[in-house]
Amino acid sequence: MIDRGPIVIYHSKTGFTAKYALWIAEKLECPFISDKEAAVKPLKHYRTLIFGGRLIAGKPQGFDFLRKHIGEFPEQQIVTFVTGSGTDNDPAELKKKIFSGMEDAAERVSGYFLKSGLNYDKMGIGERLVMKTLCRLLKLAGKKELGQHLSQSFDESSPDFVDSLVGEVKTSVK
Ligand SMILES: Cc1cc2nc3c(=O)[nH]c(=O)nc-3n(C[C@H](O)[C@H](O)[C@H](O)COP(=O)(O)O)c2cc1C
Repeated sequence: MIDRGPIVIYHSKTGFTAKYALWIAEKLECPFISDKEAAVKPLKHYRTLIFGGRLIAGKPQGFDFLRKHIGEFPEQQIVTFVTGSGTDNDPAELKKKIFSGMEDAAERVSGYFLKSGLNYDKMGIGERLVMKTLCRLLKLAGKKELGQHLSQSFDESSPDFVDSLVGEVKTSVK
């Protein structure tokens, strides 16, 4: 039985997606949990499931749970958001990637991109290495400014960026 409002489920490593989950939860006055917690929490009572993940090398990460369980939520509203440090990320393309091979599922889901940043302190050693290599390649390719920008931590996230997503969820309540 659906007798509760929205819930936010996030996958985050360096903190940006968790922060966006918190901002969304605050504005919707609803709970937010990590995808690990979602595995052991019954979600069928919630009217709206909002899933957040991170973009790594052009690929949305953190949507395995949703891909696996979406069939269990036929009546719920489902919203996804992806955080990333880039500016040229198209939400429709990201949604296609999240649901590759599951196009029917994608049709009933909406998708948002939320600009974040980079946090070198919380990256794993492998991710730090990938970023350092990318920055070196960018500098060699003449994109020195971008290489410089991506070689250090920055935070371009804002609570204002969640407003469209929050608006969609609020207006869907009948
Ligand atoms: C190895 C690596 C690759 C990344 N690739 C992309 C990318 O292709 N596009 C993008 O916009 N951001 C990219 N980012 C930035 C992350 O998407 C961004 O920091 C994200 O918000 C991290 O989420 P989290 O803090 O919740 O773990 C990358 C970050 C790392 C560490």
